[in-house]
Amino acid sequence: MIDDPINVADFERAAEEKLDEGVAGYFFGGACDEVTLGDNCAAWRRWRLRPRVLVGLEEWDTRTEVLGSEVAMPILVAPVAYQRLVDAEGEIGMARAAAAAGTVMCLSTLATTRPSELAAAVPEGRQWFQLYCFRDDGVTKALLDEAVDSGFEAIVVTADAPRGGRRERDLRTGFKIPEGLGVSSVQAALGSDRAVTIEETFALMDPALDWSDLEVLASASSVPVLLKGVLTAEDAALAVEHGAAGVVVSNHGGRQLDCAMATADALPEVVEAVAGRTPVLVDGGIRRGTDAAIALALGADAVLVGRPALWGLAVGGADGAARVLELLRSELELALALCGCASPAGLGAEHVRGAPPAAVYSA
Ligand SMILES: Cc1cc2nc3c(=O)[nH]c(=O)nc-3n(C[C@H](O)[C@H](O)[C@H](O)COP(=O)(O)O)c2cc1C
Repeated sequence: MIDDPINVADFERAAEEKLDEGVAGYFFGGACDEVTLGDNCAAWRRWRLRPRVLVGLEEWDTRTEVLGSEVAMPILVAPVAYQRLVDAEGEIGMARAAAAAGTVMCLSTLATTRPSELAAAVPEGRQWFQLYCFRDDGVTKALLDEAVDSGFEAIVVTADAPRGGRRERDLRTGFKIPEGLGVSSVQAALGSDRAVTIEETFALMDPALDWSDLEVLASASSVPVLLKGVLTAEDAALAVEHGAAGVVVSNHGGRQLDCAMATADALPEVVEAVAGRTPVLVDGGIRRGTDAAIALALGADAVLVGRPALWGLAVGGADGAARVLELLRSELELALALCGCASPAGLGAEHVRGAPPAAVYSA
């Protein structure tokens, strides 16, 4: 652990120093020129908060409800693949961190720990399961059943990856997921007795999902099914019409379609299209409590963080990830206090406006 990182950017720098070049490129990188990766962070900064004063509050509380149950803050942990690349405990450490922070962790299909193992290792945790669908419905069903039987509270179907994005950092470093690090949930779903590689897993996934598949999944599921990877009003409306219990505005952290809209820019049209029928969550580029406050003011019910929690895990294991989550929670609490809001629900459209265009000076 470096001397007391005091913000997410400090954790990012420390993680970059600690990880080898190939692994760092995999976790830090995005698609192609990384336009969307950079814009995800920049776009939250194109909004400004409109604080209210003399509101007579002396207590502030970041607790909120997501999908009908309470979390300590509207900041959840996004699904991120292969966490054992940065920490020996991997997803188990991340789940411990999320539990310590009183929030939900979403486990990736491409995790190095399968749902039943995670639930047994961190029984106090609250988990959702991120699902990639497979050509063989039996594999998809086996994955879902294991997650639901292990007490996972929701399924998050990722829709923005019919093919993997072009990750040029990995092409330059030659990074490959080590062969021994298999996708254990898929191995179990296939009933295979050997580690299943990332290439094999991708080959088995179904690139041709459509809205009827979402409807089938949602109607067959005993837990809420959310759709992740939505950036437009059109798709948000279709998601709700086809049974999604929530929409996650996401561009996969800028790792899929480069030059796709930043999530902060997509959020308002999605919120308008969903019109309160389901919760709207958003991820991508959240690095400060004020970014989360802006997302909530723009109508999100909660945000998720991918890389920030991963940087914490890389730097200090479960404790490091927990520190990142607590940092973000305390920054959000401060933002609430300084905006004049008692709780996340108090933030609304009246608390944000677009930043004025940057002045252009000529010499
Ligand atoms: C290394 C890495 C692996 C990821 N793996 C998955 C995954 O397996 N499934 C998924 O739906 N999203 C995956 N994501 C996307 C995240 O869930 C999330 O959308 C994104 O990280 C949010 O952006 P942020 O990192 O700026 O917070 C991954 C992101 C990263 C950085």
